[in-house]
Amino acid sequence: MALSDTNQLPPPRHIAIIMDGNGRWAKKRGLPRTAGHAAGAESFRRIANYCRTLGVEYLTVYAFSTENWRRSQEEVAGIMKLLHRYLVEALADMEKNRVRFRFFGDLSRLTPELRRLCLDAERRSEEYDVQVNFCLNYGGRDEIVRAARAFCQEVAEGKRAPEELTEEVFSEYLYSSGVPDPELIIRPSGEKRTSNFLLWQSAYSEYVFMNVLWPDFTPKDLDQAIEEYHRRNRRFGGT
Ligand code: FPP
Repeated sequence: MALSDTNQLPPPRHIAIIMDGNGRWAKKRGLPRTAGHAAGAESFRRIANYCRTLGVEYLTVYAFSTENWRRSQEEVAGIMKLLHRYLVEALADMEKNRVRFRFFGDLSRLTPELRRLCLDAERRSEEYDVQVNFCLNYGGRDEIVRAARAFCQEVAEGKRAPEELTEEVFSEYLYSSGVPDPELIIRPSGEKRTSNFLLWQSAYSEYVFMNVLWPDFTPKDLDQAIEEYHRRNRRFGGT
């Protein structure tokens, strides 16, 4: 397919992004890592707006993993502060922006204040269509274990029978219940790993790895990733 043809195709319904490279971006400039995350948050705003312009229905971003707690207290606090600020603004602009928020992850480890903002944002945006999913204190394996545990619990309580478990039923127990799987997963910064991101949901996703650091990621980079996605022949294991 010629490059120009791919621009005419509709974008993927669901794009997921591992927002990687904030620390290296800051280091290159002699800045603290938190400055990299602040620039990363700006990049997220820009790309989320652009996704909406393109007609992407779901955008899922890896904002904080279950492993990220191992970082310095200062860095963790910096990321939480950025999320806090973002959510306060998002709640204020909710009626104007009309974006639905979902949070994938165990929110119980967040401060009560941040957790309240997350739950408020979910509740107040329920009726909107374009959706952003923040993976927050999220791990793909953790998500699968929790889903398995929840299903087993229902079996133990007599609400479910083991033979009822299918891939579709299992999906309903994941944080992403009701959300279609991402067709495209983008990882900037040059790393080529999944890092425990959407392990179940990515079974048939196209991965695009790019060399740009997340704070430098522009709408043009997103266009390129989408073009790459369209060039690939998606067969779902068939011919
Ligand atoms: C990975 O880069 C990035 C994170 C662990 C945090 C991502 C968080 C944000 C972009 C801010 C969240 C706020 C909003 C509003 C979305 P890294 O620190 O691992 O970079 P490195 O690999 O270069 O060190």
